[in-house]
Amino acid sequence: MDSKIEKLNKRVALAHLGGGKERIKKQHAKKKLTARERVDYLLDEGSFEEMGVLVTHRTTDFGMEKEIYFGDGVVTGYGTINERLVYVFAQDFTVFGGALSETHAEKICKIMDQALKVGAPVIGLNDSGGARIQEGVKSLGGYADIFYRNVQASGVIPQLSAIMGPCAGGAVYSPAMTDFTLMVEDTSYMFVTGPNVVKTVTNEEVTAEELGGASTHSTKSGVTHITSSNDIECLEDVKALLSYIPQNNRETTKKLPYKLDNEIREELEKIIPENPNKPYNMHQVIKGIIDKNSFFEIHKNFAENIIVGFGRLAGRSIGIIANQPMNLAGCLDVNSSVKAARFTRFCDCFNIPLLVLVDVPGFLPGTDQEWNAIITNGAKLLYALSEATVPRITVITRKAYGGAYDVMNSKHIGADMNFAWPTAEIAVMGAKGAAEIIFKNEIKNADNPKAKWKEKEIEYAEKFADPYRAARRGFIDEVIYPKNTRRKLIKAYQMLEGKEVVRPKRKHGNIPL
Ligand code: COA
Repeated sequence: MDSKIEKLNKRVALAHLGGGKERIKKQHAKKKLTARERVDYLLDEGSFEEMGVLVTHRTTDFGMEKEIYFGDGVVTGYGTINERLVYVFAQDFTVFGGALSETHAEKICKIMDQALKVGAPVIGLNDSGGARIQEGVKSLGGYADIFYRNVQASGVIPQLSAIMGPCAGGAVYSPAMTDFTLMVEDTSYMFVTGPNVVKTVTNEEVTAEELGGASTHSTKSGVTHITSSNDIECLEDVKALLSYIPQNNRETTKKLPYKLDNEIREELEKIIPENPNKPYNMHQVIKGIIDKNSFFEIHKNFAENIIVGFGRLAGRSIGIIANQPMNLAGCLDVNSSVKAARFTRFCDCFNIPLLVLVDVPGFLPGTDQEWNAIITNGAKLLYALSEATVPRITVITRKAYGGAYDVMNSKHIGADMNFAWPTAEIAVMGAKGAAEIIFKNEIKNADNPKAKWKEKEIEYAEKFADPYRAARRGFIDEVIYPKNTRRKLIKAYQMLEGKEVVRPKRKHGNIPL
């Protein structure tokens, strides 16, 4: 018996050594934790149960039969995060650079299949040199097996991808199909083709960091939703993100205990400047509405003219979408529309109520926007909000102009409660532009056209630059004092808790892609 136990011990110990001490040293020298260290840090202490620790690859080409590592370059299993069940895979860069073999892929697929059956999130910690070169198409097939499962699980269980090392070639498409991608600054990168191939094909000289590092993907491409400065911060971000989302699409996020007070927030009265063209920081509005320190921003440095993120309202997790007047005056453009549409769809999949804060002067004009399909991309947000069946509440803080008024969760596209502050201006466009168009001749023929224009601007503003016409039509349910916003929202979400919407049967809609 002892010798049999010894045999098992030996194998498990070997598995725990991954690619060996030297390679572990190298991993640490790059300021990266090993796969096992990451899993240990991520999960509640002692909760990890490993699956497939003794799996090995089956390749015999290129002398691979002599290079066998238990676990085959990926640590997989289940455990808990703050007592919630999650499935995890962590690629082990110390074994063949974390490269994906047929068996490595099978291990990942196994936990994905089980997570889907059980209804629990899957968290992938990616650190891999891509397809295992010695295996050829078997490895490519392995990727596709994972991609297919990513799609089957999409909208059923949350899928989070942390990129904690290289992620290149086909490997990028699994994270891209999961719900959120996190990247670690300086030690991770993602690209379809690396700098060498770029140089050969396009003659561009670019470093891996410039091409696909965390800063590039968090500002330019929007591929990553969250960036973290090191491995530990990244794992903490995964835990924090998970706290806002439920286990699966049949559940809601657990509400944190909260004792209601009067919930008046005087500071909200002082945010909107007298001058309607002066910017203010929408983050202050968010801060004034939600529970203290509860904002978790997504896509912080990408398309900053719109803010999206999770917050808590009296302990309840909500998704927030808000125009940011500090950036491009809060206009909607291609990137901000896509950013907000994707976030809307995530919240809708997972029963997270939506709050839309509106201060939008319209869509950003220009050839750049038109040629980059602002029509199709703007339609994504319109479509995503129109199809969302979670409780949806809007607060118009200031401008709600033109088509952007419709798009930003207007009553007409199915919002449940629409509030406006007294500072709201709901109109087809700003008073200055409107006066110029409809009083064109009067202005032109006036003795003092400039003065006339101003006069007409004031006349138009007095008629339309307020929320009262919309309120008279019932497009706004209530014009509220800013200080009461939090209280009103807490009550409204409570009222909407039992909301159910039955849509006509169809395979799926055809969102403009
Ligand atoms: N298949 C098999 N083994 C791989 C591999 C792959 N795709 N990528 C890396 N490895 C192995 C290396 O041979 C090396 O093995 P060793 O420890 O026995 O020497 C180990 O992983 C570490 O790789 P190394 O190149 O030393 O690490 P690095 O940090 O300097 O570079 C990469 C990392 C990912 C940039 C580099 O390994 C690379 O370019 N890999 C190939 C990427 C690729 O083209 N993949 C296939 C297309 S998806």
